[in-house]
Amino acid sequence: MYRTHTCGELNIKHIGANVKLSGWVQRSRDLGGMTFVDLRDRYGITQLVFNMETDPDLCKSARKLGREFVIQVEGVVAERSNKNKNIPTGEIEIITKSFQVLNSSLTPPFTIESHTDGGDELRMKYRYLDLRREAVRKNLELRHQMAIQIRNYLSGENFLEVETPVLIKSTPEGARDFVVPSRMNPGQFYALPQSPQTFKQLLMVAGLDRYFQIVKCFRDEDLRADRQPEFTQIDCEMSFVGRDDVLDAFEGLSNHLFKSIKGVEITEKYPKLSYEEALRRFGNDKPDTRFEMEIVDIKELTAGKNFNVFDSAEYVRGICAEGCAEYSRKQLDELTDFVKKPQIGAKGLVYVKYNEAGSFKSSVDKFFSPDDLQKWADAMGARPGDLMLILAGETESTRRALSELRLEMGRRLELMDPDVFRPLWVVDFPLLEWDEETKRYHAMHHPFTRPYEEDLELFKTDPGKVRAMAYDLVINGVEIGGGSIRIHNEDLQQQMFDNLGFTREEAAKQFGFLMGAFRYGAPPHGGIAFGFDRWVALFAGLDSIRDTIAFPKNNAGRDVMIDTPSTISEAQLDELFLDVRKIE
Ligand code: AMO
Repeated sequence: MYRTHTCGELNIKHIGANVKLSGWVQRSRDLGGMTFVDLRDRYGITQLVFNMETDPDLCKSARKLGREFVIQVEGVVAERSNKNKNIPTGEIEIITKSFQVLNSSLTPPFTIESHTDGGDELRMKYRYLDLRREAVRKNLELRHQMAIQIRNYLSGENFLEVETPVLIKSTPEGARDFVVPSRMNPGQFYALPQSPQTFKQLLMVAGLDRYFQIVKCFRDEDLRADRQPEFTQIDCEMSFVGRDDVLDAFEGLSNHLFKSIKGVEITEKYPKLSYEEALRRFGNDKPDTRFEMEIVDIKELTAGKNFNVFDSAEYVRGICAEGCAEYSRKQLDELTDFVKKPQIGAKGLVYVKYNEAGSFKSSVDKFFSPDDLQKWADAMGARPGDLMLILAGETESTRRALSELRLEMGRRLELMDPDVFRPLWVVDFPLLEWDEETKRYHAMHHPFTRPYEEDLELFKTDPGKVRAMAYDLVINGVEIGGGSIRIHNEDLQQQMFDNLGFTREEAAKQFGFLMGAFRYGAPPHGGIAFGFDRWVALFAGLDSIRDTIAFPKNNAGRDVMIDTPSTISEAQLDELFLDVRKIE
């Protein structure tokens, strides 16, 4: 028997007990006649004591133990004189009677403690060591707990978990596919699913009524902190539902997760913001509503004062930062530099300080009188002591920049409390999105999303205005999930493909199976998929989803531990009938 207890289990109640423990040597300290070793396993850390006076041989051999050696010890639980209240085992220690080394270890390339000295690349290369750190392991434990809660909850609501295939035909979710060559079908390829979208719809045609799956999805897209090339969705679909049935069902799941995992009770219905309203008030379609600082249109108020920057701009809007009138030249310069960063893209920033004394000081005093500025202040709800920040320019890019500035101010003013959660639904997305590059419309969500009946006429006149029965769940500025009510009849689906510029042949080749299924009594249906990694990251308070995943990829899509992607042998290429072009 390797152990009687784990390293996180023993406490004051066990004093006097003979125990066996197994684990890793986190660190050891020699203090005069004593040697202390911290023994670690998944469950915690227990202090071992070796005494030079009572057992010099044992103590001498303990002093040879290196970091991360795997050992088994036998000893007696004793009360500690120097108690550590921060850990559950902190009141006891083990007076060691014997130990044996089960395996030695090289010196690890970084310290395996909560605050490690290992940089990201090193941590990823030795991920199996990184995962020994409590800080990372905790995220996997949280992920596991959430998965259990999700399965239990959905199963209790009659959802059936069904696995869908991984080798499929490409699904048009907007990213590039990862493809897999078929040896048995030379020259032909499978694609890895960007999501199980078409399969879950087919499961509804099959009469399964309520489906879910915690499932890997694959997308070959540019990576960011909240994007991995393979990530996990909580994928769901329901039959005989309208939009609000779906939203209610998944507010239930969300509330259950908040309660069971975070101990947060949410009793109010989640606010629903239309896409248009989210853009207008917060500048983006995933608003962080933990703080207000809403965007206000002052275009009209600024007109005709010969300030060309504003007069020539489509969009002149601002935000009011409460209590920031005292901002120094340096702080204002920092904000200007922030909005001018290439990824933010504004040309400049106009500020108006509404001083405590009631006077104004602005970067546009030459053009606007105090009366003018008072009107802006009234529109923006600014009071003495506040700072107004205004951006002007072309609508879309300026709105995006102002939204970034709002978030930056939220960060600076510490208005984004990680313990406060503000879930909401963004609804009524446009069905189509114009793509300047290809000069055609794309489905904003995906081609299976149902347009509002009353907007169908607009297909002929202004397709960009057609609204979709699509929705996103947004929590604290993160898009946690997205879904829609689907098209379930062949004619409308065909019309949608026509609008997206598919020829009839292309549509039939790519989606014939779905259209075919719609001929056999497809029920009205709809669903949603949540980014599981993102939800875990949100609950764990992480900025990136990487540490919610045991073995993630880096920003170049590489797994640096197993060193892949990598080349394959000529023989494998031959078998797959593939020639690889020379890479310059
Ligand atoms: P969508 O493409 O919006 O919808 O994806 C659903 C959710 O998955 C998460 N997500 C990602 N997470 C990590 N890395 C990525 N690369 C990544 N891409 C997306 C997001 C997103 O909200 N089939 C539809 C769902 C449906 O209509 O039911 C779909 O996949 O949190």
